[in-house]
Amino acid sequence: MEIKIESSLKSQSIALITGGNKGLGQQVAKELVGQGYLVLLGSRDFENGKKASEEIGESAYPIQLDVTDAQSINSAAERITAEFGRLDLLVNNAAIAQSGNYSSVSEVLESSKASVASLDEIRTLFETNVLGVLAVTQAMLPLIRLSNSGRIINISSALGSLTLNSDVNFPYRSYFGATYSASKTALNAMTLALAIELEETGIKVRAASPSFTATAMNDFQGTDSVEVGAKALVLAALDTDSPTGSFTGPDGPLPW
Ligand SMILES: NC(=O)c1ccc[n+]([C@@H]2O[C@H](COP(=O)([O-])OP(=O)(O)OC[C@H]3O[C@@H](n4cnc5c(N)ncnc54)[C@H](OP(=O)(O)O)[C@@H]3O)[C@@H](O)[C@H]2O)c1
Repeated sequence: MEIKIESSLKSQSIALITGGNKGLGQQVAKELVGQGYLVLLGSRDFENGKKASEEIGESAYPIQLDVTDAQSINSAAERITAEFGRLDLLVNNAAIAQSGNYSSVSEVLESSKASVASLDEIRTLFETNVLGVLAVTQAMLPLIRLSNSGRIINISSALGSLTLNSDVNFPYRSYFGATYSASKTALNAMTLALAIELEETGIKVRAASPSFTATAMNDFQGTDSVEVGAKALVLAALDTDSPTGSFTGPDGPLPW
């Protein structure tokens, strides 16, 4: 089922966020709407996206989007092309921390160690967190090129920073493993590659990390609320001015 968007709303800045049906994605969507954006709230389960959009209210519209499904991505791109003809902001937020086969966060961390990590698990995580981001970005790029202020924000993590994890004093260093963290490192590489390629176009490509936020991803063990956690993401998403290729977190720039 699709929801038709009134043509009178088309003068607004248009954002697409993946995995917008809950957690940080829904919070970012809410705040973008608060900033006057029309937000296409991507959700792999349309009904979940519809419910999340209704919670946000006007200017949030659900769109079915599974970042691992080429047909779903193409349908979303076709719909945005037909109804808006451009995209101003793409927030690649959707991600998974594990395949769903674990019973606790500590089990996930233990099984992410490079010496024992399942190759299938690594493939599954990279499929969503890295290739999914690239697939959505490639499909949406023609629409972003038509914006006067095109931006692509990839939601990453300090856990993916090679520089931070090389520092013996980094408190989360023991979490650096071959699954989720490494997928965020690879996402950072894709972010920088795209930023370099698109430098001349004016399209800003950024990676941004939230603080440690209580969401389903960490079994709600994060220390911050989504309102606090999303701050750095919203700042990066709304930043039309500072140089492309940035990686920022709650306390400012992060090293790659
Ligand atoms: N929470 C933290 O402390 C933290 C820290 C650093 C970085 N991050 C990053 O922040 C972002 C948001 O995470 P979160 O904490 O808000 O987690 P979350 O509540 O688990 O939300 C993840 C979202 O991604 C969606 N998703 C997963 N696979 C998808 C797919 N194949 N296609 C489309 N959507 C998919 C989920 O949809 P379903 O509801 O259908 O599963 C959900 O909407 C992620 O990129 C995460 O890595 C979070």
